[in-house]
Amino acid sequence: MRLFFALPVHKTLQLHIDQWRRQVLTPSNHWVALGNFHLTLAFLGELPHSQLERLCELVDDFLSHGEKPLRQTTLVIDHYGYWPKHGIFWIGPSEWPDSLSYLAQKLAQLGSVLGARKSKNPFTPHITLVRGCPNDPLPLATPKLDLVVDQVVLYQSLQARNGVYYEALASWPLPAPTSATPRPERLAHRRRRYRGTV
Ligand code: 2AM
Repeated sequence: MRLFFALPVHKTLQLHIDQWRRQVLTPSNHWVALGNFHLTLAFLGELPHSQLERLCELVDDFLSHGEKPLRQTTLVIDHYGYWPKHGIFWIGPSEWPDSLSYLAQKLAQLGSVLGARKSKNPFTPHITLVRGCPNDPLPLATPKLDLVVDQVVLYQSLQARNGVYYEALASWPLPAPTSATPRPERLAHRRRRYRGTV
């Protein structure tokens, strides 16, 4: 199964992103479907189904540790970019907490313990809006959107006749924000399972 960890984009933001996209870009059939918007933390690629429960347990353990925890936060989506290699046009935050990069790196590392591939690219938080776009679509304005970060989701990437779609397999709520320096604690991460898959 083809797996990746990501921050989901909630319904309201999906609609705001789409509204922005319609205002600033020329419509194209390379546009990513609204329901597929997400911010990838770690792409693992193919892993056997038999490793799924172990992968989730490793994430349970890591998140319960409280080591540099990513707490619930809001990322301001305030810039965009174009990567010509795969024709990816994206939007993302220009600033993000170190704890987000740390989480992304850790999730990739946990995947690699089970044999998943590890990306060599540095973590650049982004939400892909257009894929396979031959030229930079040159938007007319920059975005100003808030991404509420409150959970980490493990997705399976699946192929349908009309394109790819992503199914949530498990999710982990993030701890509430705090102004105090967090003491070592066992954070109450309750993994949620979907459709009894994990
Ligand atoms: P993206 O994060 O740039 O949108 C599932 O395929 C998700 O994992 C996609 O969102 C995809 O790109 C991301 N991803 C990262 N590296 C990938 C790779 N080597 N192959 C496929 N998808 C990858």
